Amino acid sequence: MLTWPQPCTDTSTQNLDLIIKMDPEMDRQLKVGFIGAGNMAFGITKGMMSGNILSGNIKVSAPSIRNLGRFQELGVPVTHSNTEVVCGSDVVFIAVKPHLVPHVLAEISPHVTDRHIVVSVAAGVTLATLEELLPENSVVIRMMPNLPCLVQEGALLFARGSNAKPEDGALLRSLLHRCGLVEEGPETWLDIHTGLSGSGVAFVYLFAEALAEGAVKMGMPSALAHSIASQTVLGAGRVLCDSGKHPAQLRAEVCTPGGTTIYGLHTLEQGGVRAATMSAVESATERARELGRRSSARCTK
Ligand SMILES: NC(=O)c1ccc[n+]([C@@H]2O[C@H](COP(=O)([O-])OP(=O)(O)OC[C@H]3O[C@@H](n4cnc5c(N)ncnc54)[C@H](OP(=O)(O)O)[C@@H]3O)[C@@H](O)[C@H]2O)c1
Repeated sequence: MLTWPQPCTDTSTQNLDLIIKMDPEMDRQLKVGFIGAGNMAFGITKGMMSGNILSGNIKVSAPSIRNLGRFQELGVPVTHSNTEVVCGSDVVFIAVKPHLVPHVLAEISPHVTDRHIVVSVAAGVTLATLEELLPENSVVIRMMPNLPCLVQEGALLFARGSNAKPEDGALLRSLLHRCGLVEEGPETWLDIHTGLSGSGVAFVYLFAEALAEGAVKMGMPSALAHSIASQTVLGAGRVLCDSGKHPAQLRAEVCTPGGTTIYGLHTLEQGGVRAATMSAVESATERARELGRRSSARCTK
């Protein structure tokens, strides 16, 4: 049975305030809440649970039952009450669609105190907007994850708000380290991260699809071509991450003079793949900036 909105009486986590800010290793005691139960909340939850966070210390809210079942299957308590999530959590993720953020923040604001760390993953909603919509001195972090968090291979970049201290960022890193790569940077990089990594996964899928179609054109059955293309992308990514080498160096290492790879690379360069990819990141970044400006205007109206 789901619990419906209840008064904010849970003070059981308040004594953790000092501990969590001083010792990020205390993950297992942390209470983590998600407002919104969509794909992103689910991906981050799965990543956190493969680390030190206990399912019983997470709580997720959403208005309908639609997305809650998969959290229940993981042993994560669920509710329809956003305030219940806030009152029982030290770290609260705002994981609703960007246009719903003002509505949700207005609802939870009376219950947000300086013991909370509020982490928004809503695309385009700026730190200034979040801080304006939450009580003064609220500790706010804006983060851009990407969907591979689902398989603990995400790329996450966050920026701290004006009241969030380096130790709050350290706590977030510790909490999310099993979701993938977690980095901190200035807020202006978040839109670039959206173009590079949020949208970048789709660019990689396009490339994988084209690789497979090339093989189909040359006579390989489609299913086999697609699984080999997927494994090629996975393997190349793993070597790139693990070797620490620049991609140009790895590329040179597979190019035998006069061999097949240099012939193929020449064809790719003639097709403008490098310029097109750079332009794709640029267009996606510009679009993220544009959506962010619109979202800020809407949120602060
Ligand atoms: N998906 C991505 O790749 C990605 C990447 C980076 C950032 N983000 C950001 O992550 C956020 C969530 O995206 P998503 O893809 O996870 O969205 P989603 O799958 O559509 O999920 C949205 C969730 O919000 C819930 N919700 C709606 N109104 C609510 C309310 N008033 N109170 C509490 N919960 C409410 C929905 O409830 P129901 O379950 O009842 O429908 C649903 O569970 C967005 O702001 C997006 O910009 C997403």
